[in-house]
Amino acid sequence: MNDKKLVCNCMNITIADIRSAVKSGADTFDKVQSKTGASTSCKRCIEYAENVFKAIMDGE
Ligand code: FES
Repeated sequence: MNDKKLVCNCMNITIADIRSAVKSGADTFDKVQSKTGASTSCKRCIEYAENVFKAIMDGE
């Protein structure tokens, strides 16, 4: 994955931001949302953001 890629436009969250949330202990997508704010506004990005989260959890 290209870590510079934007996942959530509203909150300006990249793959790298999701990765650092996971590294600092977010082990559910809910926790990633709380830590980063990702997918908490229009929510159009939520499916993609959840897939990115799962890929990171799978070691990508
Ligand atoms: S693009 Fe992510 S909440 Fe709107």
